[in-house]
Formats: sequence, structure tokens, C-alpha cells
Amino acid sequence: MSPSIVVDGVTKEFSIRSTRTLKQRVVKRLRGEEVVHSFRAIEDVSFDVEDGESIALMGLNGSGKSTLLKLISGVMRPDQGRVLTRGRIAGLIGLGAGFHPQLSGRANVYLNGAILGMTEAEINAKFTYIIDFAEVGRFLDTEVGHYSSGMQARLGFAVAIHTDCDIFLIDETLAVGDRPFKRKCLKRINDLRREGRTIFYVSHNTNQVERLCKRALVLEQGKLGFDGPVHDAIRHLHYDEDEDPDAGEV
Ligand SMILES: Nc1ncnc2c1ncn2[C@@H]1O[C@H](COP(=O)(O)OP(=O)(O)OP(=O)(O)O)[C@@H](O)[C@H]1O
Ligand SMILES: [Mg+2]
Repeated sequence: MSPSIVVDGVTKEFSIRSTRTLKQRVVKRLRGEEVVHSFRAIEDVSFDVEDGESIALMGLNGSGKSTLLKLISGVMRPDQGRVLTRGRIAGLIGLGAGFHPQLSGRANVYLNGAILGMTEAEINAKFTYIIDFAEVGRFLDTEVGHYSSGMQARLGFAVAIHTDCDIFLIDETLAVGDRPFKRKCLKRINDLRREGRTIFYVSHNTNQVERLCKRALVLEQGKLGFDGPVHDAIRHLHYDEDEDPDAGEV
């Protein structure tokens, strides 16, 4: 087997300002205090994902999951280390990502499809399937800015799932979908998995993670705290100790 994703000693820093006004900034500077602090959202993270593997990325809010996904998708570059991927990447790295709120649903299918690397002919050929999957038919010519969060997630997911990709990244966008839609998406993700695509799945939902993946990574304040079987990852996070608020969800 060969890896389809290699993350090797990756660090990503962001800067955070400790002042809001120019006056506060000047005062801090005069006192010799720092105005901008940098912090590591991802710190020295390394792992490989095999071709065709389904892997979950878990961790508390703010632990760096979305940042890591953006580094893998190429939206961001690491400050240290390297990220290597093999094949075409598609997926959803955030609600409304790649959408223009003032354009219609129809125009956004073309825009988002193009961002994901589809040609116009490819989108034309898949257009009806995408719309059928998203079930936003009546609102196809309404601007996306007026869509509900669930409708945006549906349209985004529908476009992403119809691209021919080798690596599929999903960042918790399913959370806003209703139950029938979630069920449909999970079925589609399972199909992709069976076809041998690599799935990288960010989720807090232990049921879904257990169903889709065998292996999970856990981020803890930007560091890789765990890499191993999903059950052990859930235990590592203490997500098995109290009642799961998602229990019974699809
Ligand atoms: N562009 C940015 N500029 C500055 N800080 C950022 C930026 N993007 C993310 N961060 C910070 O990096 C940290 C990790 O954020 P990230 O979105 O990766 O967390 P997450 O694990 O996806 O959380 P959640 O479960 O809430 O989705 C947070 O402290 C966040 O404030
Ligand atoms: Mg996130």
C-alpha cells in the first residue's frame, strides 16, 4: 500500500492581536509590550493515510481540526513541515465555502464545481444528479445567501460528492443537515469508501465516526494526542463516559 496523504512535522501559526484600538496599540508599544502574539494552531503533527483508508479526525472545539483540513486541502500552507497528497481532492471544508452568496444556487453549482476542478461539460453532465441530491429544486434560481444553513450544506455536499476525487475531506458539515439528508450523505460516503477512495472525516459524532472509520486521530491544542483505533480514540477523549447527545442520530 502507498500513502495518499503524508503530513510530516507540520506546524501552522496564527497571530492574535491583543489590542483593538490604535490608542491601545500605541500605549502597549510605548510600554514595550507585545501587540501581536503568535500561537500554534497546529504543532509538529505527523501521520500518513493509506490509499483507500477512512480516517476520522476528532478533538475538542478549537483543537485545530479545520486548520489541519485546510492544510491538507491546500487552502493554507504550513509554516513548518510538509503536506503531500496524491490524486484529486474534493470535499467540504466549511459551510458555504466556495459559494458566492449573491449568486443563484444554479450559478453556484458551476462556481463551486469549477473550484473543485470540474470542467463545464462535466458539471453539465452531472447537473441534474447534483440538484436531485441537494433537493433544493424550487430554489435553484434564488440567491444562495437566502438559503437556510441546511440548504447550503445540501448544495455544497451535492457538488462535492459528484466530483471524481481520490481523497474526500468532510468537515462536520453534515451536522446541520436533517436526518434524511444525513442518512443519504452517509450512504454516499460509504459508497465512496467501498470504491476505494480515501476519506478524511472530521466529526464530533461518535456514532458516525464508528460507522465510517476504523482509525482516528485526536488533536489536543494543535498537537496529535492520539492515533489508533476509533474505540480507543473515543475513550481517549472521554466521549464514552457520559450520555452521547447525538445518540440515536443517524
Ligand atoms: N485564520 C485564522 N487566524 C487566526 N486564528 C485562527 C485562524 N483559523 C483558526 N484559528 C485559530 O486556530 C485554532 C484552531 O481552530 P480550528 O478552526 O482549526 O479548530 P477546530 O478544531 O476545527 O474547532 P471546531 O471543533 O470548533 O470546529 C483556534 O484557536 C482558532 O481561533
Ligand atoms: Mg472546525
